[in-house]
Amino acid sequence: MQFLIILGIVFLLFVIWKYWTLALGAGYDPTPTKCICRMLELAEINEDDIVYDMGSGDGRILIAAARLYGARAVGIEADPSRFIYSWLNILVSGQVKRARVKFGNLFKKNISDATIVTLFLFGPTNNKLKDKLLRELKPGTRVVSYIWTFEGWEMQGYLPENRLYLYVIK
Ligand SMILES: C[S@@+](CC[C@H](N)C(=O)[O-])C[C@H]1O[C@@H](n2cnc3c(N)ncnc32)[C@H](O)[C@@H]1O
Repeated sequence: MQFLIILGIVFLLFVIWKYWTLALGAGYDPTPTKCICRMLELAEINEDDIVYDMGSGDGRILIAAARLYGARAVGIEADPSRFIYSWLNILVSGQVKRARVKFGNLFKKNISDATIVTLFLFGPTNNKLKDKLLRELKPGTRVVSYIWTFEGWEMQGYLPENRLYLYVIK
């Protein structure tokens, strides 16, 4: 009986872990590695940029922005296991001076120093984020979204074969 209760608790914790970021904005699904450079190049990244990855998962976008383009990069991640994993990933990659990850809800973190924002979230989440992006980002900031668009925003570029969409804050 005790064993079944423990098994039930473990199962419940697993379900909460698996689905709670889905409730916050999006579940985990990594952007394919081949799309990461295309995403950053669509935003015309350079070494003066500050890239924010909203829901930064395993941190590969942050590491690529820092290592390949010399930019600074900040991730925001609400899942504790992915936060720790991406922090270690950045440490091992040797990019700690340029890349870092913050733990928490991306809706609650200030992103006003970003010059590029990358996202792979979910359609309704992108639309909920529009007010925040317009409120906090400077004119000229590039926003690149993988798969999901922003309803009513005019696209400034796209790569249909990679499902990448570029917007520029006015
Ligand atoms: C589809 S994955 C994308 C991961 C990474 N950006 C990439 O492209 O490989 C979405 C990530 O956003 C995180 N996430 C979802 N909602 C969030 C929120 N409100 N605050 C912070 N992170 C969130 C999830 O935990 C997940 O790691």
